[in-house]
Amino acid sequence: MGASKEIRFDGRVAIVTGAGGGLGRVYALEFARRGAKVVINDFGGARDGAGKGAAGPADKVVDEIKALGGEAVANYDNVATVKGGENIVKTAVDAFGKVDILVNNAGILRDKGLLKMEPENWQAVLDVHLNGAFHVTRPAFSVMRDHGYGRIIMTTSAAGLYGNFGQSNYSSAKLGLVGFMNTLKLEGIKYNIKVNTVAPIAASRLTEDILPPDLLAKMNPAYVAPIVLYLGSEECNETGRIYNCGAGFYNRAAMMTSPGTVIGGKKIPSVEDVSANWAKIMDLKGAKEYGQLNDLVLQDLLSALEGKKEPAQSGGGFAAVKDVFEKMPGAFQAGSAGGAAVVFQYCISGDGGGDWSADIKNGACTVASGLHASPTCTLKIQAGDFLDLMNGKVNAMKAYTSGKLKIEGDLMKSQLLEKIFKF
Ligand code: NAI
Repeated sequence: MGASKEIRFDGRVAIVTGAGGGLGRVYALEFARRGAKVVINDFGGARDGAGKGAAGPADKVVDEIKALGGEAVANYDNVATVKGGENIVKTAVDAFGKVDILVNNAGILRDKGLLKMEPENWQAVLDVHLNGAFHVTRPAFSVMRDHGYGRIIMTTSAAGLYGNFGQSNYSSAKLGLVGFMNTLKLEGIKYNIKVNTVAPIAASRLTEDILPPDLLAKMNPAYVAPIVLYLGSEECNETGRIYNCGAGFYNRAAMMTSPGTVIGGKKIPSVEDVSANWAKIMDLKGAKEYGQLNDLVLQDLLSALEGKKEPAQSGGGFAAVKDVFEKMPGAFQAGSAGGAAVVFQYCISGDGGGDWSADIKNGACTVASGLHASPTCTLKIQAGDFLDLMNGKVNAMKAYTSGKLKIEGDLMKSQLLEKIFKF
Protein backbone atom coordinates (compact mmCIF):
# COMPACT_ATOMS: atom_id res chain seq x y z
CA MET A 1 0.00 0.00 0.00
CA GLY A 2 1.43 3.40 -0.95
CA ALA A 3 1.63 6.14 1.65
CA SER A 4 -1.32 8.49 1.29
CA LYS A 5 -1.35 12.21 1.93
CA GLU A 6 -1.48 13.17 5.60
CA ILE A 7 -4.95 14.27 6.67
CA ARG A 8 -4.61 17.58 8.48
CA PHE A 9 -6.93 19.96 10.30
CA ASP A 10 -4.92 23.20 10.12
CA GLY A 11 -7.25 26.17 10.34
CA ARG A 12 -10.13 23.95 11.50
CA VAL A 13 -11.97 24.28 14.79
CA ALA A 14 -13.30 21.16 16.50
CA ILE A 15 -15.59 20.71 19.49
CA VAL A 16 -15.45 17.38 21.26
CA THR A 17 -18.02 16.95 24.01
CA GLY A 18 -17.11 14.73 26.95
CA ALA A 19 -13.44 15.11 25.98
CA GLY A 20 -12.12 15.06 29.56
CA GLY A 21 -11.60 11.30 29.45
CA GLY A 22 -12.15 8.05 27.57
CA LEU A 23 -12.74 8.23 23.83
CA GLY A 24 -13.33 11.98 23.66
CA ARG A 25 -9.89 12.75 25.10
CA VAL A 26 -8.20 10.57 22.48
CA TYR A 27 -10.15 12.21 19.63
CA ALA A 28 -9.30 15.68 20.94
CA LEU A 29 -5.58 14.93 21.26
CA GLU A 30 -5.48 13.56 17.72
CA PHE A 31 -7.40 16.49 16.22
CA ALA A 32 -4.98 18.88 17.96
CA ARG A 33 -1.92 16.88 16.92
CA ARG A 34 -3.08 17.25 13.32
CA GLY A 35 -3.47 21.01 13.55
CA ALA A 36 -7.05 21.64 14.73
CA LYS A 37 -7.96 24.10 17.45
CA VAL A 38 -10.07 22.16 19.90
CA VAL A 39 -12.74 22.93 22.48
CA ILE A 40 -12.44 20.37 25.26
CA ASN A 41 -15.89 20.15 26.77
CA ASP A 42 -16.39 18.06 29.87
CA PHE A 43 -18.86 18.49 32.69
CA GLY A 44 -16.72 16.32 34.95
CA GLY A 45 -19.52 14.38 36.65
CA ALA A 46 -19.68 10.78 37.78
CA ARG A 47 -20.16 7.86 35.39
CA ASP A 48 -23.93 8.03 35.96
CA GLY A 49 -23.93 11.80 35.46
CA ALA A 50 -24.33 12.56 39.18
CA GLY A 51 -22.49 15.39 40.95
CA LYS A 52 -21.97 19.10 40.52
CA GLY A 53 -19.31 18.67 37.88
CA ALA A 54 -15.62 19.50 37.95
CA ALA A 55 -13.13 21.45 35.85
CA GLY A 56 -10.33 18.93 36.38
CA PRO A 57 -10.95 16.49 33.49
CA ALA A 58 -11.29 19.16 30.77
CA ASP A 59 -8.37 21.23 32.16
CA LYS A 60 -6.10 18.19 32.21
CA VAL A 61 -6.69 17.44 28.53
CA VAL A 62 -6.17 21.10 27.58
CA ASP A 63 -2.83 20.95 29.45
CA GLU A 64 -1.88 17.76 27.62
CA ILE A 65 -2.63 19.36 24.24
CA LYS A 66 -0.72 22.53 25.10
CA ALA A 67 2.24 20.48 26.30
CA LEU A 68 2.32 18.89 22.84
CA GLY A 69 2.30 22.33 21.21
CA GLY A 70 -1.39 22.27 20.22
CA GLU A 71 -4.21 24.75 20.76
CA ALA A 72 -7.20 24.03 22.98
CA VAL A 73 -9.64 25.67 25.38
CA ALA A 74 -11.66 24.08 28.15
CA ASN A 75 -15.40 24.26 28.63
CA TYR A 76 -17.20 22.74 31.61
CA ASP A 77 -20.82 23.05 30.49
CA ASN A 78 -23.39 20.31 30.78
CA VAL A 79 -24.65 19.20 27.36
CA ALA A 80 -27.93 18.20 28.99
CA THR A 81 -29.12 21.82 29.05
CA VAL A 82 -29.97 24.20 26.21
CA LYS A 83 -27.77 26.88 27.78
CA GLY A 84 -24.91 24.41 28.15
CA GLY A 85 -25.05 23.58 24.45
CA GLU A 86 -25.08 27.24 23.49
CA ASN A 87 -22.13 28.00 25.77
CA ILE A 88 -20.05 25.19 24.31
CA VAL A 89 -20.49 26.62 20.81
CA LYS A 90 -19.93 30.15 22.10
CA THR A 91 -16.64 29.01 23.65
CA ALA A 92 -15.49 27.85 20.20
CA VAL A 93 -16.63 31.00 18.42
CA ASP A 94 -15.16 33.34 21.09
CA ALA A 95 -11.81 31.54 21.18
CA PHE A 96 -11.38 30.49 17.55
CA GLY A 97 -14.04 32.30 15.46
CA LYS A 98 -16.06 29.32 14.18
CA VAL A 99 -16.88 25.61 14.43
CA ASP A 100 -15.97 23.20 11.62
CA ILE A 101 -16.21 19.88 13.41
CA LEU A 102 -18.46 18.68 16.19
CA VAL A 103 -18.13 15.31 17.87
CA ASN A 104 -21.15 14.59 20.05
CA ASN A 105 -19.47 12.18 22.42
CA ALA A 106 -20.44 13.03 26.03
CA GLY A 107 -22.19 10.14 27.69
CA ILE A 108 -23.35 8.52 30.92
CA LEU A 109 -24.86 5.17 31.86
CA ARG A 110 -27.69 4.19 34.20
CA ASP A 111 -28.28 0.54 33.45
CA LYS A 112 -31.35 -1.22 34.85
CA GLY A 113 -33.91 -3.74 33.64
CA LEU A 114 -37.10 -2.03 32.49
CA LEU A 115 -39.11 -2.75 35.64
CA LYS A 116 -36.39 -1.23 37.84
CA MET A 117 -35.84 1.67 35.46
CA GLU A 118 -37.13 4.71 37.35
CA PRO A 119 -38.26 7.59 35.12
CA GLU A 120 -35.32 9.72 36.32
CA ASN A 121 -32.85 7.12 35.06
CA TRP A 122 -34.58 7.08 31.69
CA GLN A 123 -34.67 10.87 31.57
CA ALA A 124 -31.07 11.49 32.67
CA VAL A 125 -29.69 9.23 29.94
CA LEU A 126 -31.88 10.74 27.22
CA ASP A 127 -30.94 14.22 28.43
CA VAL A 128 -27.21 13.68 28.02
CA HIS A 129 -27.04 11.57 24.87
CA LEU A 130 -29.99 12.58 22.70
CA ASN A 131 -31.05 15.98 24.00
CA GLY A 132 -27.39 16.82 24.65
CA ALA A 133 -26.55 16.25 20.98
CA PHE A 134 -29.46 18.47 19.97
CA HIS A 135 -28.41 21.22 22.41
CA VAL A 136 -24.90 21.43 20.97
CA THR A 137 -25.63 20.60 17.34
CA ARG A 138 -28.29 23.26 16.83
CA PRO A 139 -26.07 26.29 17.56
CA ALA A 140 -23.09 24.59 15.89
CA PHE A 141 -25.13 23.91 12.73
CA SER A 142 -25.96 27.60 12.51
CA VAL A 143 -22.25 28.55 12.57
CA MET A 144 -21.42 25.79 10.07
CA ARG A 145 -24.18 26.96 7.75
CA ASP A 146 -22.79 30.50 7.82
CA HIS A 147 -19.35 29.17 6.83
CA GLY A 148 -20.64 26.64 4.29
CA TYR A 149 -18.73 23.80 5.93
CA GLY A 150 -19.33 21.29 8.68
CA ARG A 151 -18.57 17.78 9.85
CA ILE A 152 -20.75 16.36 12.62
CA ILE A 153 -20.16 13.00 14.25
CA MET A 154 -22.81 11.39 16.44
CA THR A 155 -21.98 8.60 18.85
CA THR A 156 -24.38 5.70 18.87
CA SER A 157 -23.77 2.25 20.32
CA ALA A 158 -24.22 -1.38 19.41
CA ALA A 159 -26.67 -1.34 22.32
CA GLY A 160 -28.88 1.04 20.33
CA LEU A 161 -28.32 -0.54 16.91
CA TYR A 162 -28.89 -4.12 18.05
CA GLY A 163 -30.08 -4.08 21.70
CA ASN A 164 -28.44 -4.87 25.03
CA PHE A 165 -30.10 -6.27 28.14
CA GLY A 166 -30.56 -3.67 30.89
CA GLN A 167 -29.96 -0.65 28.68
CA SER A 168 -33.41 0.35 27.41
CA ASN A 169 -32.77 4.02 28.26
CA TYR A 170 -29.33 4.06 26.67
CA SER A 171 -30.38 2.09 23.54
CA SER A 172 -33.31 4.43 22.97
CA ALA A 173 -31.14 7.53 23.30
CA LYS A 174 -28.44 6.05 21.09
CA LEU A 175 -30.76 5.01 18.27
CA GLY A 176 -32.46 8.40 18.56
CA LEU A 177 -29.14 9.88 17.48
CA VAL A 178 -29.30 7.85 14.27
CA GLY A 179 -32.71 9.35 13.53
CA PHE A 180 -31.30 12.79 14.28
CA MET A 181 -28.49 12.14 11.78
CA ASN A 182 -30.88 10.82 9.13
CA THR A 183 -32.66 14.14 8.93
CA LEU A 184 -29.63 16.38 9.47
CA LYS A 185 -27.82 14.71 6.58
CA LEU A 186 -30.59 16.09 4.33
CA GLU A 187 -30.74 19.51 5.96
CA GLY A 188 -26.95 19.80 5.80
CA ILE A 189 -26.46 18.94 2.12
CA LYS A 190 -26.94 22.48 0.90
CA TYR A 191 -24.28 23.82 3.30
CA ASN A 192 -21.65 21.12 2.86
CA ILE A 193 -22.40 19.82 6.33
CA LYS A 194 -21.85 16.08 6.52
CA VAL A 195 -23.24 14.07 9.40
CA ASN A 196 -22.12 10.56 10.29
CA THR A 197 -22.36 8.26 13.29
CA VAL A 198 -19.92 5.95 15.03
CA ALA A 199 -20.68 3.04 17.35
CA PRO A 200 -17.41 2.60 19.27
CA ILE A 201 -16.28 -0.33 21.35
CA ALA A 202 -13.46 0.69 23.69
CA ALA A 203 -12.10 0.38 27.18
CA SER A 204 -13.19 3.35 29.29
CA ARG A 205 -14.84 4.03 32.61
CA LEU A 206 -18.18 3.31 30.89
CA THR A 207 -17.15 -0.21 29.91
CA GLU A 208 -14.61 -1.19 32.62
CA ASP A 209 -17.12 -3.45 34.41
CA ILE A 210 -19.22 -4.38 31.35
CA LEU A 211 -16.67 -5.95 29.02
CA PRO A 212 -14.46 -8.88 30.15
CA PRO A 213 -10.89 -7.81 31.19
CA ASP A 214 -9.11 -9.76 28.43
CA LEU A 215 -11.31 -8.06 25.83
CA LEU A 216 -10.82 -4.63 27.42
CA ALA A 217 -7.07 -5.03 27.04
CA LYS A 218 -7.54 -5.14 23.24
CA MET A 219 -9.92 -2.20 23.18
CA ASN A 220 -7.67 0.83 23.28
CA PRO A 221 -9.79 3.92 22.44
CA ALA A 222 -6.99 4.91 20.06
CA TYR A 223 -8.43 2.37 17.59
CA VAL A 224 -11.64 4.41 17.34
CA ALA A 225 -10.01 7.80 16.81
CA PRO A 226 -8.85 7.26 13.18
CA ILE A 227 -12.37 6.76 11.83
CA VAL A 228 -13.76 9.65 13.87
CA LEU A 229 -11.03 11.90 12.50
CA TYR A 230 -11.62 10.67 8.96
CA LEU A 231 -15.34 11.48 9.28
CA GLY A 232 -14.34 14.88 10.63
CA SER A 233 -12.04 15.65 7.72
CA GLU A 234 -12.42 17.44 4.39
CA GLU A 235 -11.62 14.13 2.71
CA CYS A 236 -14.85 12.63 3.94
CA ASN A 237 -17.60 12.67 1.32
CA GLU A 238 -19.93 10.39 3.20
CA THR A 239 -23.04 11.59 4.95
CA GLY A 240 -25.71 9.73 6.86
CA ARG A 241 -23.65 6.60 7.54
CA ILE A 242 -23.11 4.47 10.63
CA TYR A 243 -19.85 2.68 11.48
CA ASN A 244 -19.01 0.14 14.17
CA CYS A 245 -15.43 0.56 15.29
CA GLY A 246 -13.19 -0.95 17.94
CA ALA A 247 -9.92 -2.88 18.40
CA GLY A 248 -8.98 -2.25 14.77
CA PHE A 249 -12.23 -3.66 13.34
CA TYR A 250 -14.41 -1.32 11.29
CA ASN A 251 -17.64 -1.99 9.43
CA ARG A 252 -20.71 -0.12 8.22
CA ALA A 253 -24.17 -0.68 9.62
CA ALA A 254 -27.24 0.23 7.58
CA MET A 255 -30.99 0.13 7.72
CA MET A 256 -32.01 -2.23 4.93
CA THR A 257 -35.57 -2.49 3.61
CA SER A 258 -36.95 -5.54 1.87
CA PRO A 259 -38.62 -5.25 -1.56
CA GLY A 260 -41.90 -6.25 0.09
CA THR A 261 -45.15 -7.03 -1.59
CA VAL A 262 -48.57 -5.53 -2.28
CA ILE A 263 -51.36 -7.44 -0.60
CA GLY A 264 -54.98 -6.95 -1.54
CA GLY A 265 -54.37 -4.18 -4.08
CA LYS A 266 -57.40 -1.89 -4.02
CA LYS A 267 -59.16 -3.91 -1.33
CA ILE A 268 -57.97 -3.80 2.27
CA PRO A 269 -56.28 -7.13 3.05
CA SER A 270 -57.42 -9.36 5.88
CA VAL A 271 -55.25 -10.54 8.75
CA GLU A 272 -55.19 -13.93 7.02
CA ASP A 273 -53.90 -12.29 3.80
CA VAL A 274 -51.02 -10.81 5.79
CA SER A 275 -50.32 -14.18 7.40
CA ALA A 276 -50.34 -15.90 3.99
CA ASN A 277 -47.83 -13.38 2.63
CA TRP A 278 -45.55 -13.37 5.65
CA ALA A 279 -42.57 -14.92 3.89
CA LYS A 280 -42.68 -12.23 1.16
CA ILE A 281 -42.84 -9.42 3.73
CA MET A 282 -39.93 -10.90 5.65
CA ASP A 283 -37.65 -11.72 2.72
CA LEU A 284 -34.65 -9.38 2.71
CA LYS A 285 -33.36 -10.67 -0.65
CA GLY A 286 -32.91 -7.61 -2.84
CA ALA A 287 -33.15 -5.32 0.20
CA LYS A 288 -31.97 -1.76 -0.27
CA GLU A 289 -30.93 1.29 1.66
CA TYR A 290 -33.15 4.36 1.32
CA GLY A 291 -31.67 7.85 1.30
CA GLN A 292 -34.79 9.49 2.68
CA LEU A 293 -38.49 8.96 3.40
CA ASN A 294 -39.53 9.92 -0.13
CA ASP A 295 -37.49 7.06 -1.62
CA LEU A 296 -39.86 4.71 0.12
CA VAL A 297 -43.13 6.56 -0.14
CA LEU A 298 -42.90 8.40 -3.45
CA GLN A 299 -40.90 5.80 -5.34
CA ASP A 300 -41.29 2.25 -4.14
CA LEU A 301 -44.61 2.33 -2.37
CA LEU A 302 -46.43 4.24 -5.12
CA SER A 303 -44.75 2.27 -7.88
CA ALA A 304 -45.49 -1.04 -6.20
CA LEU A 305 -49.13 -0.03 -6.01
CA GLU A 306 -49.05 0.82 -9.70
CA GLY A 307 -47.75 -2.69 -10.31
CA LYS A 308 -44.28 -1.76 -11.46
CA LYS A 309 -41.67 -4.31 -10.52
CA GLU A 310 -38.56 -2.19 -10.02
CA PRO A 311 -39.64 1.37 -9.51
CA ALA A 312 -36.19 2.92 -9.36
CA GLN A 313 -35.44 1.47 -12.79
CA SER A 314 -38.50 2.92 -14.51
CA GLY A 315 -37.77 5.83 -16.78
CA GLY A 316 -38.58 7.59 -19.96
CA GLY A 317 -36.13 5.86 -22.34
CA PHE A 318 -34.71 9.22 -23.39
CA ALA A 319 -31.89 9.42 -25.93
CA ALA A 320 -31.47 13.21 -25.89
CA VAL A 321 -31.78 15.87 -23.20
CA LYS A 322 -34.11 18.04 -25.27
CA ASP A 323 -36.61 15.14 -25.57
CA VAL A 324 -37.11 15.31 -21.80
CA PHE A 325 -38.16 18.94 -21.96
CA GLU A 326 -40.43 18.31 -24.96
CA LYS A 327 -42.25 15.64 -23.01
CA MET A 328 -42.23 17.55 -19.72
CA PRO A 329 -45.54 19.46 -20.05
CA GLY A 330 -47.30 16.19 -20.95
CA ALA A 331 -45.68 14.37 -18.02
CA PHE A 332 -46.90 17.00 -15.55
CA GLN A 333 -49.32 15.61 -12.94
CA ALA A 334 -51.46 18.58 -11.94
CA GLY A 335 -53.21 16.47 -9.29
CA SER A 336 -49.92 15.77 -7.51
CA ALA A 337 -48.69 19.36 -7.62
CA GLY A 338 -51.17 20.43 -4.95
CA GLY A 339 -51.42 24.00 -6.31
CA ALA A 340 -47.66 24.56 -5.99
CA ALA A 341 -46.16 27.64 -7.70
CA VAL A 342 -42.53 26.90 -8.49
CA VAL A 343 -39.99 27.50 -11.24
CA PHE A 344 -37.41 24.77 -11.80
CA GLN A 345 -34.37 25.93 -13.74
CA TYR A 346 -32.33 23.19 -15.40
CA CYS A 347 -28.75 23.93 -16.43
CA ILE A 348 -27.52 20.87 -18.29
CA SER A 349 -23.84 21.00 -19.17
CA GLY A 350 -21.85 19.10 -21.81
CA ASP A 351 -22.78 17.79 -25.25
CA GLY A 352 -26.50 18.00 -26.00
CA GLY A 353 -27.08 20.12 -22.89
CA GLY A 354 -28.59 23.58 -22.51
CA ASP A 355 -30.82 25.60 -20.20
CA TRP A 356 -34.53 25.03 -19.75
CA SER A 357 -37.05 26.21 -17.17
CA ALA A 358 -40.28 24.61 -16.05
CA ASP A 359 -42.75 27.14 -14.66
CA ILE A 360 -45.47 25.53 -12.59
CA LYS A 361 -48.46 27.56 -11.55
CA ASN A 362 -52.25 27.36 -11.55
CA GLY A 363 -52.12 23.62 -12.16
CA ALA A 364 -50.16 23.96 -15.43
CA CYS A 365 -46.55 23.49 -16.48
CA THR A 366 -44.86 25.73 -19.06
CA VAL A 367 -41.45 24.71 -20.33
CA ALA A 368 -39.18 27.28 -21.99
CA SER A 369 -35.60 27.14 -23.17
CA GLY A 370 -33.08 29.55 -21.64
CA LEU A 371 -32.67 31.01 -18.18
CA HIS A 372 -35.65 32.11 -16.08
CA ALA A 373 -35.29 35.44 -14.24
CA SER A 374 -36.25 34.13 -10.80
CA PRO A 375 -36.20 30.35 -10.45
CA THR A 376 -37.28 28.73 -7.17
CA CYS A 377 -34.48 26.24 -7.51
CA THR A 378 -31.78 25.52 -10.05
CA LEU A 379 -30.62 22.01 -10.92
CA LYS A 380 -27.16 21.67 -12.45
CA ILE A 381 -26.05 18.39 -13.98
CA GLN A 382 -24.04 16.96 -16.87
CA ALA A 383 -26.06 15.80 -19.90
CA GLY A 384 -25.07 12.12 -19.51
CA ASP A 385 -25.90 12.08 -15.80
CA PHE A 386 -29.20 13.82 -16.50
CA LEU A 387 -30.17 11.13 -19.01
CA ASP A 388 -29.20 8.40 -16.52
CA LEU A 389 -31.43 10.07 -13.98
CA MET A 390 -34.36 10.43 -16.35
CA ASN A 391 -33.92 6.88 -17.61
CA GLY A 392 -34.03 5.52 -14.06
CA LYS A 393 -30.43 4.33 -14.02
CA VAL A 394 -29.63 6.36 -10.92
CA ASN A 395 -31.98 7.87 -8.38
CA ALA A 396 -32.08 11.57 -7.63
CA MET A 397 -30.83 11.25 -4.04
CA LYS A 398 -27.82 9.24 -5.17
CA ALA A 399 -27.03 11.73 -7.92
CA TYR A 400 -27.32 14.50 -5.37
CA THR A 401 -25.25 12.99 -2.57
CA SER A 402 -22.52 11.96 -5.03
CA GLY A 403 -22.31 15.58 -6.22
CA LYS A 404 -23.42 14.82 -9.80
CA LEU A 405 -26.60 16.78 -9.31
CA LYS A 406 -26.22 20.24 -7.73
CA ILE A 407 -29.27 22.06 -6.48
CA GLU A 408 -29.30 25.78 -5.69
CA GLY A 409 -32.13 27.75 -4.15
CA ASP A 410 -35.03 26.05 -2.41
CA LEU A 411 -33.85 22.48 -1.95
CA MET A 412 -37.07 21.29 -0.36
CA LYS A 413 -39.06 22.28 -3.46
CA SER A 414 -36.84 20.10 -5.64
CA GLN A 415 -38.31 17.12 -3.81
CA LEU A 416 -41.58 17.86 -5.60
CA LEU A 417 -40.05 16.86 -8.92
CA GLU A 418 -40.36 13.12 -8.46
CA LYS A 419 -43.97 13.55 -7.49
CA ILE A 420 -45.25 15.93 -10.13
CA PHE A 421 -43.67 14.50 -13.26
CA LYS A 422 -44.44 10.98 -14.44
CA PHE A 423 -42.66 10.27 -17.71
P1 NAI B 1 -16.25 8.06 29.42
O1 NAI B 1 -17.12 7.99 30.62
O2 NAI B 1 -14.83 7.71 29.58
O3 NAI B 1 -16.32 9.50 28.76
C1 NAI B 1 -17.50 10.24 28.68
C2 NAI B 1 -17.17 11.66 29.08
O4 NAI B 1 -18.37 12.43 28.93
C3 NAI B 1 -16.75 11.78 30.53
O5 NAI B 1 -15.49 12.43 30.61
C4 NAI B 1 -17.85 12.59 31.18
O6 NAI B 1 -17.40 13.45 32.21
C5 NAI B 1 -18.41 13.35 30.01
N1 NAI B 1 -19.81 13.75 30.24
C6 NAI B 1 -20.80 12.99 30.75
N2 NAI B 1 -21.93 13.69 30.84
C7 NAI B 1 -21.67 14.92 30.34
C8 NAI B 1 -22.45 16.08 30.15
N3 NAI B 1 -23.73 16.09 30.53
N4 NAI B 1 -21.88 17.16 29.60
C9 NAI B 1 -20.56 17.15 29.24
N5 NAI B 1 -19.77 16.08 29.43
C10 NAI B 1 -20.32 14.96 29.97
O7 NAI B 1 -16.94 7.11 28.31
P2 NAI B 1 -16.50 6.71 26.82
O8 NAI B 1 -16.51 5.25 26.76
O9 NAI B 1 -15.31 7.44 26.39
O10 NAI B 1 -17.79 7.19 26.01
C11 NAI B 1 -17.78 8.19 25.01
C12 NAI B 1 -19.03 8.00 24.17
O11 NAI B 1 -18.96 6.76 23.46
C13 NAI B 1 -20.32 7.97 24.95
O12 NAI B 1 -21.32 8.64 24.22
C14 NAI B 1 -20.64 6.50 25.02
O13 NAI B 1 -22.01 6.26 25.20
C15 NAI B 1 -20.14 6.05 23.67
N6 NAI B 1 -19.89 4.63 23.58
C16 NAI B 1 -18.82 4.08 24.22
C17 NAI B 1 -18.61 2.72 24.10
C18 NAI B 1 -17.42 2.10 24.69
O14 NAI B 1 -17.22 0.90 24.41
N7 NAI B 1 -16.61 2.79 25.44
C19 NAI B 1 -19.56 1.85 23.41
C20 NAI B 1 -20.59 2.53 22.72
C21 NAI B 1 -20.75 3.88 22.83
